[in-house]
Order: sequence, then structure tokens, then C-alpha cells
Amino acid sequence: MEVIIQPNAEAGCLLGAGIMAKMIRDKPDAVLGLATGRTPLQLYHELIRLHRNEGLDFSRVTTFNLDEYVGLPAGHDQSYRCFMRENLFQHINIDQQRTHVPDGGAADLQAECREYEQRIEAAGGIDLQLLGLGRNGHIGFNEPTGSLRSRTWIKILSEQTLKDNSAVFGDFATMPRHAITMGVGTILEARRVLLLAFGPAKVRAVTDMIEGPLAAVCPASALQLHPRATVILDESSSAGLRYAEHYRWIDRHKLDWQKHG
Ligand code: F6R
Repeated sequence: MEVIIQPNAEAGCLLGAGIMAKMIRDKPDAVLGLATGRTPLQLYHELIRLHRNEGLDFSRVTTFNLDEYVGLPAGHDQSYRCFMRENLFQHINIDQQRTHVPDGGAADLQAECREYEQRIEAAGGIDLQLLGLGRNGHIGFNEPTGSLRSRTWIKILSEQTLKDNSAVFGDFATMPRHAITMGVGTILEARRVLLLAFGPAKVRAVTDMIEGPLAAVCPASALQLHPRATVILDESSSAGLRYAEHYRWIDRHKLDWQKHG
């Protein structure tokens, strides 16, 4: 796992956007896995800026979002489909037909999960999967103690996750209790993973993910098995790491071709 500690979230998002932009420039038909939530917002702003000011071209890019609330049709203003449209898709030249978000309003949710996996496979797999990190160590909506080999499926959201996300959702009482999410096994198949985690609320999850044992109580710890996982932190989220100085040392001694690309 490559661990990069930045001074603050803004610097972390700029770095993350740079990695994604390089992927798109190197491979114009890249398949990107995307996340919602507060963490990637600044990264998306930067991708929009790169599109507007530097011509970053999304016309051949395909995207797959990690998750969606069950029971919300795509047009619902709290759906992740809507979040993505507002915060990224409508500001760039992406072909909407190439953007995929699980359909939380599907009549047959289990078929939707199976078909989502098939759509990822048909696209050739995910080149770069962007992830946030739940305070409880979840990635996607894979909550603690779920299988580390799970596939896209319907998951029950933990009370902690509902509380944490109610600010984004708007209303705890009416929040759906279930979501469709790519599984941990699905995420691990992405050829590259880029996880961002900022702020003091993420200290425990970050520490468990990087330095804890590989354990289902922290689903993000499964990334220890990934051959190409990059984690970008800020000073506050990295405050619990025993080996923080070691990660900084490694970062300073990277060869040119190893530097953040
Ligand atoms: C979002 C997702 C979640 C979030 C996580 C962190 O699509 O899959 O795992 O990344 O809950 O959320 P924020 O960024 O709001 O702290």
C-alpha cells in the first residue's frame, strides 16, 4: 500500500485529481470507478477545472459508481445518480450513456446487482477505483464484518453510517436503510485503487486499514491485499499511524517514475 500524507485535504484532492487526470490522458478510454460523499468533492472540482481550462477530455471515459441507496429512483434529488450529475457529470464532456450508477429503484434488485457486475466485466474491468473511507472502516457500503470477498449486492447500512451520511442526505428519518454496493471482492479487482481519507474522524479507520490486521471488522483493511493501492491522507487523518515517518521517508525517496502517477 502506498501511503501519501499531505498537509491538508485540499492538497490531497489536488494530488488525487492529478493521478486521475494522468490516467485519462494516458488511456483516453479509461474505466473509472467513482465514489460519492464529502471526501471527493474537491477532487471533482479540480477535474472540472482541468476539463475547462486544460481540455481534459472525458468523451471516451466510462464510469461505474460504487453504490446507490435502495428505493431511490435515479431522478430522486438525494440519489447518488443525482449527486454525480450535479457534482461532476453535467460539468464535463462525458457521454451519459457511459456513466453507470446502480439502480436503487430496480424492480428486481438482485438481478440489478448481477447485471452491474456483468456491465463492469463487459467494459473490461475498472482501471482506477476512487474510494472514500467510512468512519467505521467501510469502503463502498461494505460495513464491518461483511465478507472480504463479497460481490455487488444489497447491504444493510449500519446506524453509524446512516448518522454520518444524514448530513449529506438531508434527513436521517427518511434515509433508506439499504444500499446496493460493489462488494469488497469487486473493488479488489480494479487494476488500481485510490483511497482518500481526511479529517480527525477518520483516524481510527485509517490506522486499522493501514496498520491493523487484515480483518473483516475493518473492510478497508482488505486493500492490504491489493497490488496497487494508493492512500492519500491529511495530517489529521494520519495522526494515529505508528509508521507515519516511514511513509514520509518512502515518499521522499521515490524514483521519478514512482512519483504519484
Ligand atoms: C460513497 C461511499 C462511501 C463513502 C464513505 C465516506 O460512494 O461509498 O464509502 O466514501 O462513507 O464518506 P465521506 O466522504 O462523506 O466521509
